[in-house]
Amino acid sequence: QPPQILAGKTITITAGPTREPLDPVRFISNHSSGKMGYALAEAALLLGANVNLISGPVTIKAPIGANLINIESAEQLLNEALVYAPQSDAFIGCAAVADYRAGEVATQKMKKQGDELTLTLVKNPDVIAAVANIEKNRPYTVGFAAETQNVESYAKGKLVNKNLDMICANDVSQSGLGFNSDQNALTLYWQNKQLELPVSSKSTIALKVIEQLAKHL
Ligand code: PMT
Repeated sequence: QPPQILAGKTITITAGPTREPLDPVRFISNHSSGKMGYALAEAALLLGANVNLISGPVTIKAPIGANLINIESAEQLLNEALVYAPQSDAFIGCAAVADYRAGEVATQKMKKQGDELTLTLVKNPDVIAAVANIEKNRPYTVGFAAETQNVESYAKGKLVNKNLDMICANDVSQSGLGFNSDQNALTLYWQNKQLELPVSSKSTIALKVIEQLAKHL
């Protein structure tokens, strides 16, 4: 058993995709499998933390010992995040949250119509920014950045604009890494330093992320 450096600490992790309904049978979502977030939960448990795992719909099993909270939409994720974040020492936003949802969700199945269909989308709340701006009992707040270009500048922009303590950037244009793969590579950024975590399994990467996080708790 590794040293229990997170004994007595509570970490809340979001994982997986969100689903934004269009009507009773359709939704907008993305390719997140939950593997990265679940690996982070497993690593935090291994180092002795109490873990809340707020998860979108995925097909993998939650690690034993995690407190699993299931959500579907970004709005549901926000509600749960605001319950668990103030009770946590750290919060990690690894979920792939939809930036937009349907402006109106049809109550009945939409019927096939003409050759084109226009959907109006409205902006979702930014969950990690809301957590990072909690006034009372704000946790150490860690975001992820999934980018296909300008990885460093976009990630640093999110670190600052969302008021995060740390951000884990992945280049999701690289095949075999990022969404729905077993491996990943990350660059971790803080305000004044950075650290490369080269390609390895999501479980190895997750342990390194959690060890870095532990230094700040
Ligand atoms: O689940 P896997 O298949 O293992 O894939 C892992 C992953 C690629 C999904 C993961 O490593 C990852 O990058 N997760 C973040 C995906 C994402 O939504 O990135 P983003 O750059 O769009 O968002 C930046 C940050 O803001 C993230 O911490 C995200 O959780 C958060 N966010 C985004 C939008 C929003 N409305 N609310 C948020 O909290």
